[in-house]
Amino acid sequence: MPSSRIPGFYNLPLSERLEKLSEASGLSLDELASLQNPQRSEINASAGLTDEQADHMVENAVGTFSLPLGIGLNFIVNGREVLVPMVIEEPSVVAGASFMAKLARAAGGFTVTTTPPEMIGQMQVLEINDLKAAWVQLLAHKDELLSEADSIDPILKKLGGGARDLEIRIIEDSPIGSFLVVHLIYDVRDAMGANAVNTACEKLAPHVEQITGGRVHLRILSNLADRRLVKASCTILLKELFFKNADGRTFTGEQVRDGIIEAWAFASADPYRAATHNKGIMNGVDAVVIATGNDWRAIEAGAHAFAARGGRYTSLSTWGKDGNGNLTGRLEMPMAVGIVGGATKVHPAAKAALKLMGVETAAELAGIIASVGLAQNLAALRALATEGIQQGHMTLHARQVAIAAGAVGDQIEEVAAQMAAEKTVRIDRAEEILNILKK
Ligand code: MEV
Repeated sequence: MPSSRIPGFYNLPLSERLEKLSEASGLSLDELASLQNPQRSEINASAGLTDEQADHMVENAVGTFSLPLGIGLNFIVNGREVLVPMVIEEPSVVAGASFMAKLARAAGGFTVTTTPPEMIGQMQVLEINDLKAAWVQLLAHKDELLSEADSIDPILKKLGGGARDLEIRIIEDSPIGSFLVVHLIYDVRDAMGANAVNTACEKLAPHVEQITGGRVHLRILSNLADRRLVKASCTILLKELFFKNADGRTFTGEQVRDGIIEAWAFASADPYRAATHNKGIMNGVDAVVIATGNDWRAIEAGAHAFAARGGRYTSLSTWGKDGNGNLTGRLEMPMAVGIVGGATKVHPAAKAALKLMGVETAAELAGIIASVGLAQNLAALRALATEGIQQGHMTLHARQVAIAAGAVGDQIEEVAAQMAAEKTVRIDRAEEILNILKK
């Protein structure tokens, strides 16, 4: 089994990292070349998304837009070593997730489970005189409607997917009064499912109108995918939590563990904090969702709606301790990602990303994404509960300021290191240090 541990990866020049990744993953350099920028790839100059492909993906295309792609290291998910591609513009996220995955490894990594890949398609039925009677009629025709919906996508059916259930809801107090909503529950297997579900709803609508005597208005997937959930959990051994920061200050395992639980309690009870706490989770989640060409807006919408499902917006994760005093973490959220269809199959880098992770089902991908989300949440809480978030950000931020001040090559590290040591990360100071270096 390839290993997700690549010691020294961080210190290698970018050009050598792909070789290391190739060694660690068992994939050839050619297979991984699509993770690189086409203009820069020494391996394959047509790697990455071409203008032509982009032109087929969106309207009015004039080019493509690049973001950094880093590799999340150290992940073990359900006993399997996984190298995780992460696309993100924010410093510290890839390092934070990798470091927390290393802490989690000591107790076996992440354990994940998923529900069946069932999505919800909604039909809004208006102009019904007797809502209860329409409800009864729809239930009486449920089997018929389900078998019709089931036959709409023969390929999905052959793969074991298709219509699973029909739920009828009455919305009482909308701005236009009461109406009926039909939920078509559709198993979409390894697809994200929007196309399959939207098609099924559009095809089923005339039959629903005929049964109810109403008018089907909207026919669209719900992004609150609360029947397609992923759960990830991990245990961090107390001894792994001890740490000494750059100033020599030490934090015991108990201090860090309790600090993390206190930080989580804040997010659990307060929506203002929960929004930021969940944003930290989404830093990890979105990075993998984007790397695999999936629809991150759908994942964001589902996550935040799910976080508010009890009537008050709260934390998506839970932190506590087990009987041995170790830290335990759990994340539960909707995860409507696919590995077939859409950009996952068109974007060369997304295809390479899926290959690198060795995922064979959408459920496996969902589990990896949730593990990265949980790891990222832990990285943020650990920093916040101890030395504060800025300490870790300092060096990376300093590098960006150094570049903005005009530093190039080795100057970047030198200027950044000096500013970090002085705890003064400002463009004017970067310029001063740079001028001294130049002399
Ligand atoms: C920053 O991108 C994310 C954090 O704010 C998350 C958190 O506060 O938990 C650090």
